[in-house]
Amino acid sequence: MQLKLLLPVLDGLTASVFVLDAERRVLLVNEAGKALFGSALIGADFVQTVRNPQCLKAISKVLEGAKKAELVITLRKPVRTTYQVTVTRLGSKEFSAEKDQPRAVISLENISHVFEAEQMRSEFVANVSHELRSPLTALNGFIETLKGAAKDDNIARERFLGIMEREAKRMNRLIGDLLSLSKVEADAHIRPEQQVEILTVIKQVLSVLEPLAKKECVDVQLNIPAGIEEMVPGDVDQLQQVFVNLLENAIKYGGSGGLITIAVSEKDSTAGVPGPVIQVDIIDRGAGIKSEHIPRLTERFYRVDKGRSREKGGTGLGLAIVKHILARHRGRLNVTSEIGKGSTFTVCLPR
Ligand SMILES: Nc1ncnc2c1ncn2[C@@H]1O[C@H](COP(=O)(O)OP(=O)(O)OP(=O)(O)O)[C@@H](O)[C@H]1O
Ligand SMILES: [Mg+2]
Repeated sequence: MQLKLLLPVLDGLTASVFVLDAERRVLLVNEAGKALFGSALIGADFVQTVRNPQCLKAISKVLEGAKKAELVITLRKPVRTTYQVTVTRLGSKEFSAEKDQPRAVISLENISHVFEAEQMRSEFVANVSHELRSPLTALNGFIETLKGAAKDDNIARERFLGIMEREAKRMNRLIGDLLSLSKVEADAHIRPEQQVEILTVIKQVLSVLEPLAKKECVDVQLNIPAGIEEMVPGDVDQLQQVFVNLLENAIKYGGSGGLITIAVSEKDSTAGVPGPVIQVDIIDRGAGIKSEHIPRLTERFYRVDKGRSREKGGTGLGLAIVKHILARHRGRLNVTSEIGKGSTFTVCLPR
C-alpha cells in the first residue's frame, strides 16, 4: 500500500497527524498539522516540529518496539495549548514497498478546552468551600462559647446570637446564589420566550430595594423618555434579578454620592448585540472602580474589596449571575467608571 493514498483520509481529521520513519523523520503530515506547525518540516527530524522531551521519549519507545504510547503535553508556543498525544507503531508489512518505511503515527489533539474546564471546576469548588468555611467556623466558635464561658451571660448571648444569625444568613444567600447561577447555566442555550415589559420590571425592582436605599440614604431617580417601546423577549424573573443585582450594588458600593440614576433609552444598534436594543444605564456617584478591576468584575467570587463586600453581606456572585443571564438573552453588560466620580453599569437587551 502507498502511504500517500492515506493523505485524503488524514486531511479529514481535526487532529494533527504525522507519520514518521524509523529515524523519527517526518514522512507525511495532514492539513491540520500543517496549519498548526507549518509544512516545511517534511523530511526533518520531528524534534523540529515539537520540542517536548516527554513527547520525544514516547516516540522513541514506539520506534523501539512498543505498540502504543499516550500522554498529555502542554506547548507554550505559539499560544499555550494542551494536547492529547497518541503515538502508534506501524507494522513493517503494510508499507514494505515504500522507500522510507513509515514506522509510527503520531496524532496531537487539542484538548485545551477540556483541560481549562476541568481547572475552572476545581477552582470553583475550592472557592465555594472557602466561602462556606468562614461563616461555619464563626458559627462553631460561638456555639462553643455559648455552651461554655458565656453560658450564663445574657448580654453576651444576645450579641453572639445576632452574629450567628448574620453568618447563617450569609451561608443561605451564598447557596441561593450558587443555585441560581447553576440554573442560569443549565438554561443557557434555551432562548427565553416571554415578552417582558422592561419598565414594569425596573419599577418593581425599585420598590423591592427602596428600604435598602432609604437605609443607605440614597435617592434613586428614574429617567424614562415618554413613548418608549418597552417590550423585550425575555425571562421576567431573570431580568428582575439582573436589575436587583445591579441596583443593589449601586446602592451598596456607589451610594456615597447620595444619588443613583436609572436611565432607559432605545438604540438602533449597539456593539455586540444584534438589531435594535433597549439600553438601561445604572449610574452612581460613588467612589468608582479602578480600571484594572473592571474586566474581572463578572468573575465568580471576584470582589474589589473583599472585606468591605463581606461586611455588606456580598458573596461576589451577583455580577457573574448578571453576565450569564444577559448572555442567555443575547444582551450585554458594559461597565465604565471614573475614580472619585462614580460608575455606570449599562445593560443592553435586544428588542
Ligand atoms: N456600583 C459599584 N461601585 C463600586 N464597586 C462596585 C459596584 N458594583 C460592583 N462593585 C464591585 O464589584 C464587586 C463584585 O460585585 P458582585 O455583585 O458580583 O458581588 P458582591 O456585591 O460582592 O456580592 P453579591 O452581589 O453576590 O452579594 C463588588 O464586590 C464590588 O467590589
Ligand atoms: Mg452584588
